[in-house]
Amino acid sequence: MDSIRVTGGRPLDGTVSIQGSKNAALPMMAASLLHRGVSVLKGCPRIADVLCMEGILGEMGAVTWWEGHDLYLDCTKADKTEISEVYTGKMRSSVILLGAMLGRNKKGCLGYPGGCVIGKRPIDLHLLALRSLGARIEEGPFFLCASCRELKGSTISFPGKSVGATEQGILAAVLAKGETCLKNCAREPEIQWLCRYLRGMGAKISGEGGECIYITGVEELNGGNMQVPPDRIVAGTYLCACAATRGRITIENPPEGELDAFLEVYRKIGGQYKAKSGKLIADGSGVRFSLPYLETGVYPGFPTDLQSPMMAVLATIPGESHIREMIFEDRFKAAEQMNRMGAGIVTAGRDAFIHGGHPLLGCQVYAQELRGGAALILAALAAKGETEIHGYSYIRRGYERIGDDLRTLGAKCQPAF
Ligand code: UD1
Repeated sequence: MDSIRVTGGRPLDGTVSIQGSKNAALPMMAASLLHRGVSVLKGCPRIADVLCMEGILGEMGAVTWWEGHDLYLDCTKADKTEISEVYTGKMRSSVILLGAMLGRNKKGCLGYPGGCVIGKRPIDLHLLALRSLGARIEEGPFFLCASCRELKGSTISFPGKSVGATEQGILAAVLAKGETCLKNCAREPEIQWLCRYLRGMGAKISGEGGECIYITGVEELNGGNMQVPPDRIVAGTYLCACAATRGRITIENPPEGELDAFLEVYRKIGGQYKAKSGKLIADGSGVRFSLPYLETGVYPGFPTDLQSPMMAVLATIPGESHIREMIFEDRFKAAEQMNRMGAGIVTAGRDAFIHGGHPLLGCQVYAQELRGGAALILAALAAKGETEIHGYSYIRRGYERIGDDLRTLGAKCQPAF
C-alpha cells in the first residue's frame, strides 16, 4: 500500500526544521555535470526526485554517494550523452540536463521529460534558450537531441517567464564562448541559488534576481560546494498545516525573505508570525478570515506550489474565498478530493471558489500530484476522524519526512506501505 493515514482534530504544536530545497538542489545537481571532478551539495534532501536525478547522473557515468545529507557527485566520467525515457519520464526537471550536457560535451539526447500532471508543461522556452546559443535541436518520436559545434554567447529573450527555461539558459551559457544576456528571466530564489552555486564553481554571472541575467562564458569550472537552502515550499506547507489546525509552530530554519507574499496572505487570514533569533514563530490560532481573491504569480507573487495547501486552509474558514491559478492550467485536482471529505469547492477553469467552513470528515482520498497531495494531508489534519491518503509516493517526491515532522508537531499520522 502506498498511503498515509491521518487522524485529524489536533492543533499542531511544536518546533520543526525544514529540509533542503528540492527545486534548488535539482538544478545544482545538473550544474555539477559542468565540472569533471567532485562536487558536494550539503544538506541535500533525500527525496524521490533527488534520488531520480542521482540515478540519471549515475546512468551517465557519475559516481555518487551520500554522507548523511551531504551528496557527493563525482562527474569525472559522466560522459554518456543519451538518457532514455525510463529515467527522464519520471520527472520534469530532467530536461535541464540538456543545457549542461551541451556545455560539457556539445551534445545530448534525452527521452521526453515527465513530472506532475498539472498542465500541458511545454518545453518551447527551453529549446529557444538552447537554439539562441547555437544548438541544433531534433525532436524525434522518443528522443530530444541537441548538438552544437560550440555554444556561443548571445541574447536570449524569453517571451514568458519560466523557472526551468531560465535555468536551462544559465546552464548552457556558463561554458559558452562570449557574453550571454538572458532577458525576461524568472526571478525565483532557486535561480539565484543556482547562480550562487555556479559562481562558487568559477562562473561569471551577475544580475540574477532581476529580469536580466548576464553571463560571460569561461573555459572550465571547478567543483561545486554549497549548502542547499531550506525549502520555502515545505516551510509554507507546514505553516498551512499550522493554520488549518489553528495551531502554533516554530520553524527552526525558515527560508529568509523568500516567503513574503505567502506570509502577507497568512496575516490576511488571521495568522500571526514573528521572527526571533533566526526562527519563525507562527500562530494559527486566530485564523478565521476568508480571502475574497488570491491569485498565484511568478516570484515574488504568491507561489503556485502553495496554492493547494492554502486551499486546504481556506476550506476550514467560514465564508467565501476565491483562488485564481495563473501559472498552471490544471492545478485544482486536490479540490475534488477535498470535496469527498465534505469541503465546498467549485472549480471553473483557472478559478476555484471555496465555500469554507463545511465540516471535513475523514475518508479515503487519492493524491494525484505532489503539492495537491500534501494539501490533502492538511485537510485531513483539520478533519474529524481518520483519512487515508492514497498515492503517498507523489507526496514523497518533494517531502522527505512530512509524516515524521507532523508527528513531531503532535499530529496523529502513520504511513502505511
Ligand atoms: C518550476 C518548479 C515548480 C513550480 C514552477 C512555477 C522546479 C523543479 N519546479 O517548474 O515546482 O511550480 O517552477 O513556479 O523548479 N512554460 C512554457 N514553455 C516552457 C516552459 C514553461 O510555456 O518551455 C510555461 C508552463 O507551462 C507554465 C509556466 O511557463 O505555465 C511556468 O512554468 P515554469 O516556470 O517553467 O515551471 P517549471 O520550471 O517546470
